[in-house]
Amino acid sequence: MEKREKVTVKGIKGSRHQGAKIVMLTAYDYPFAKIMDEAGVDIVLVGDSLGNVVLGLPNTRGVTMPDMLHHTRAVARGVKRALLVADVPYRSLSVANARKLRQAGASAVKVEGITRIKTIKQIVGAGIPVMGHLGYLPQTDPKPAISRSESLIGQAKELEKAGAFAIVLELVEPKLAKKIAESVTIPTIGIGSGKNCAGQVLVTYDLLGLSDWSPRFAKKKIDLRRIILRTLREFVAENK
Ligand code: KIV
Repeated sequence: MEKREKVTVKGIKGSRHQGAKIVMLTAYDYPFAKIMDEAGVDIVLVGDSLGNVVLGLPNTRGVTMPDMLHHTRAVARGVKRALLVADVPYRSLSVANARKLRQAGASAVKVEGITRIKTIKQIVGAGIPVMGHLGYLPQTDPKPAISRSESLIGQAKELEKAGAFAIVLELVEPKLAKKIAESVTIPTIGIGSGKNCAGQVLVTYDLLGLSDWSPRFAKKKIDLRRIILRTLREFVAENK
């Protein structure tokens, strides 16, 4: 997408027709959000990966609405150009909660799965844009697994019909991800799902080497943990 223009839901929805690729990364605080915005990231996601990445929880299920609102507010202060999307946390899907995330600064909300498709429709009906999320769903099963079920094609179509403006495909077998992308007109944004999506998303801490553990598909561009550790050890040694 064009680097300087403000990114909108409409722009993301139409990006496929223009052949533009979408770049999406996660942020949980103000300084990272500000750097990402400056770098030209199109969508900044306040993911509920907040739980395992930042809060030290074993998975995303312990993340609450107050957690998401607190971090969304911080990220919103740093984002000017990018589209800000916030995850609806575990067992929190409702129109009222989607509204709260919007009031905290998110332009759209992301919802895992389609089991609550009626509520997704209601959220869209209330004027709040929804990004879908199919494939591996951490809120349903915290253990990562590749999705190979052709039923995902129907689920993607249902999401499009319900009014979703984009769909994250997490750990979907690449050929299936391609079929899904071809079955809908809205963009698919892949994570560990191959190249045939309209965009790619990564957990920023994996990309920068700040996580204790990161999945194999996540390209670690730099080992920031090692650099920070070395710097802090030097500081400790200098000041002891
Ligand atoms: O919570 C998250 O960070 C996500 C991404 C992995 C897409 O949902």
